[in-house]
Amino acid sequence: MKIGVISADSTHESRVALTPDAVKKLRKLGFEVVVQSGAGLAAYYTDDSYQTAGADIASSSNEVIEQSQIITTISDLPAELTETLKPKQIVVGMLDPYRNTQLDTYAAKGATVFAMELLPRTLSRAQNMDVLSSQANLAGYKAVLLAANEYSRPFPMFMTSAGTVKPAKVVILGVGVAGLQAIATAKRLGAVVEASDLRPSAREQVESLGGKWLDVPMSEEEAQKAKATGGYAWTPSEQYIKDQAAVVDKALSGADIVITTAQIPGRQAPRLVHKTTLDKMKAGSVLIDMAAGTGGNVEGAVAEQTITTDNGVRIVGAANIPSMLAAQSSDLYANNLVNFITTLIAEEDEASDTANTNAAPNKLALHLDMEDEIQGALAVTHDGQVRLAKR
Ligand code: NAI
Repeated sequence: MKIGVISADSTHESRVALTPDAVKKLRKLGFEVVVQSGAGLAAYYTDDSYQTAGADIASSSNEVIEQSQIITTISDLPAELTETLKPKQIVVGMLDPYRNTQLDTYAAKGATVFAMELLPRTLSRAQNMDVLSSQANLAGYKAVLLAANEYSRPFPMFMTSAGTVKPAKVVILGVGVAGLQAIATAKRLGAVVEASDLRPSAREQVESLGGKWLDVPMSEEEAQKAKATGGYAWTPSEQYIKDQAAVVDKALSGADIVITTAQIPGRQAPRLVHKTTLDKMKAGSVLIDMAAGTGGNVEGAVAEQTITTDNGVRIVGAANIPSMLAAQSSDLYANNLVNFITTLIAEEDEASDTANTNAAPNKLALHLDMEDEIQGALAVTHDGQVRLAKR
């Protein structure tokens, strides 16, 4: 059974879906692998390194699709490739399911498409397949370094003969996987850190990393709701949004660096920082909006652009930070995919068939099961149907 790797083919994407190490693991399991020439180059993986690991190199994406039973990708396939899919081919990647406009086409082609973002996060056997966590962790770290680069002062406190340098004040809004790593990184660099999230359970995590919790008052009813959502974001009331804006406004007026990470799967990112607050911020302060690709947490943020406001505040629209750490993020992403792909196969021990003495032992067979809680959650198209429930 052959697995294909398609090149991301975008100036904003340097990651590759499978690395040479992942190829080695898949070869050991009995798969063949074909990689589009140059697919790994932006992540520093050459065609030679893939060949050494046991992959074939194909000259075009069409050739990869032609040969592969399972097609791995970072993001959605370009429309011209989707059109070439054959029934029962499998596509695995971060397909942005709720905003994907190609699901009907994938279904019409008879392809089974697994959107890795839909993984049930709290299922322990799925944790090594969690692409959102593996990528967000790296993104949270790198967001702090981006901010440090943009900022014209240092993060740590320095006592020098020329004067004392105050530590930077960093505010993190949204304390999921990325936010927690951002707190840890900013603390390591010597900053003073404050953070907030609409999940009250995040408080303990913020404090355990040495950050100060910015508390937004919450009604009894909201506290119950927050508990009932099992750790995921809940829909806040108008009053909560108003109170949160006041807390954010106060914290950001004195902040040097702000990192926003708040996202809601399948929906527009919540607006957490308004122009009225930006107007009060110090010249030279920096905001890194990690939700810029899904509408932005910060008013005026533009994906992949840095905007400077009239009062000298810089807003960095960082839509794809994991791509800036392409070598490492590809390694972890590829591990996530290998762990998932392993669940799609069963071994057909043809060696036990005495009538077929020349058969290769341990031939792989696909084992698709929409009743399986992982496969069933990830499959957005299967058997000619779009399976994704609307949000
Ligand atoms: P995310 O990327 O969807 O959002 C980032 C953070 O923003 C979240 O903490 C969320 O609560 C917060 N947020 C969303 N809307 C907000 C608003 N209006 N105001 C303030 N904050 C807001 O989150 P991520 O990192 O994907 O994590 C989502 C949840 O999944 C978290 O509860 C996390 O602890 C949980 N998780 C559990 C795992 C496990 O049990 N193995 C693994 C990874 C995540």
